[in-house]
Amino acid sequence: MKADFRESLCLAVETSCDETAVAILRGFGGTMSSLVSSQVALHAPFGGVVPEVASRNHLHDLPALVESALEAAGVELRQIDSFAATGGPGLAPALLVGLSYTKGLALGARKRFLSVNHMEGHLLSPFFGRDSIPEHIGLIVSGGHTLLLHVRGYGRYQIIGRTLDDAAGEAFDKVAKLLGLPYPGGAVLDRLAENGNPDAFQFPRSMLHSGNFDFSFSGIKTAIRYHLENFPVPACGPIEDVCASFREAVVDVLVQKTIACARLHDCKTIGISGGVSANQLLQRKFLHSAELENLNVFFATPSLSTDNAAMIAFAAQHAFAHGAHSEWDAEITPSLEWFSSKEKTG
Ligand code: KG4
Ligand code: ZN
Repeated sequence: MKADFRESLCLAVETSCDETAVAILRGFGGTMSSLVSSQVALHAPFGGVVPEVASRNHLHDLPALVESALEAAGVELRQIDSFAATGGPGLAPALLVGLSYTKGLALGARKRFLSVNHMEGHLLSPFFGRDSIPEHIGLIVSGGHTLLLHVRGYGRYQIIGRTLDDAAGEAFDKVAKLLGLPYPGGAVLDRLAENGNPDAFQFPRSMLHSGNFDFSFSGIKTAIRYHLENFPVPACGPIEDVCASFREAVVDVLVQKTIACARLHDCKTIGISGGVSANQLLQRKFLHSAELENLNVFFATPSLSTDNAAMIAFAAQHAFAHGAHSEWDAEITPSLEWFSSKEKTG
């Protein structure tokens, strides 16, 4: 490790789902390269990610992507100071490819290696570039997870709430599918909603007044399925109105519960990450509420919001700075519980 940590180079690999990603980071924020090879088109015909197809393609794409990342960064493998890969949560066969491949690189180069929690990558991404993580309420809204956390600093995470069924992104994708939109439909649905009437239909705001910070999004998906059976589009009105009314309900719950959580914990900073953090209404509503409540809201930038390796490298650099590393026998940990057991509260 370099004497000045801000000069150290970390190469990170992300293969938890259907994106193969490699990034090289100098210190905490000097992105030298960040490449993502998406398999979305390969999985689209199946309407979801097929684990075996994902792992086979990660294996096929990784070596060339690592070469391209080194070339784009203008460095050679021997100049890399540390290696990191996503260890979980995610699809087991997909994680196995990235973790094993990266361990091999680190072992061959005799450099340190770290297995990174994918959710920690998302969680810290709104603060990309900073050498310290402020106390904040973190909302992770991705295709696989919806989590609300109280973050007291790097490594001090307390899960406050989570979805009891579908993740927010999953709900967007499933409703998009019901509407006949291409997979994954979250971003397309968001664009259509911009031209719709959010008051056209009243869809349920599940668990808005549940008295805790958990979420549930399967009810609204079912409500929309019944709605479409009774009032098929376009006869009952434009598809844009269904998109806007659905988006309004989901975003209302996410924003109101997160703001209430910040209030309860007397926390003035909020960080929002994961693919759904790119949602236009979500951003507008958070910014509006933040102004009213005098809060600072940080969003992951678009390239850091969906799965990428720069966020994994950023989380790894913080871990390395805290003296952490993984042993060579580190296993993949596909379930989320690793995050919970790792959390340090207090
Ligand atoms: O964070 P991410 O890459 O996935 C996981 O790690 O799980 O996020 C992907 C999810 C997908 O469900 C996608 O439809 C959703 O984020 N998404 C959006 C938008 N852009 C991406 N959902 C709503 N509005 C958007 N603009
Ligand atoms: Zn993710």
